Amino acid sequence: MTNTAIDFKHLSVRLLENKDLEFIRRLRNENRQHFLDSNYISKQDQQRWYKSYLLRTDDQMFVLEENGVSVGCGALYNIDIDKKKAEVGRFVIDVSHRGKGYGGILIRLIEEMALSKFEIKELYLEALAANIPAISLYKRMGYKKVGRQSGSVFKMVKKI
Ligand SMILES: CC(C)(COP(=O)(O)OP(=O)(O)OC[C@H]1O[C@@H](n2cnc3c(N)ncnc32)[C@H](O)[C@@H]1OP(=O)(O)O)[C@@H](O)C(=O)NCCC(=O)NCCS
Repeated sequence: MTNTAIDFKHLSVRLLENKDLEFIRRLRNENRQHFLDSNYISKQDQQRWYKSYLLRTDDQMFVLEENGVSVGCGALYNIDIDKKKAEVGRFVIDVSHRGKGYGGILIRLIEEMALSKFEIKELYLEALAANIPAISLYKRMGYKKVGRQSGSVFKMVKKI
């Protein structure tokens, strides 16, 4: 990982806003092949999703900014306060910013939020087994494989 403490100071994470919808739609559509749900997302689909997202209390989507410019996104969802468990995912770092440690920083910031805001103790995720950069990142961040689903999907968990 190449990030330094100085790089980190230029980064911040904030909740998704209406103004981010085209940004996250582009990221998602450009990286469809890496997601279990690989459908193309139209403007209308995105608006519909955002409307329902705003009504949810168990879903928090974040945008990572570098010096105020959006460079990635990620989410904490299926937040179960009683079981103290939640899912992480929807991670995309814009292609020109990959390999700088930003994915790891975003995960760490979301984990901190999960713990401090929702007292979550266990996080889980699903990733395509062929997605080597993502699996490698999750392993480095302490997520452990808990089995395969239908041969091509890894389930991973981490106690925080
Ligand atoms: C997965 C993703 C979010 C990682 O973002 P990032 O900012 O590049 O992450 P980092 O720089 O913190 O770490 C990248 C890791 O991938 C590794 N990596 C990058 N390209 C790689 C490649 N072609 N082959 C193998 N490993 C690769 C890096 O070496 C690093 O591994 P490490 O953790 O062992 O050091 C980014 O690659 C991405 O947006 N991918 C497309 C969307 C996606 O796959 N999302 C996840 C869906 S589960």
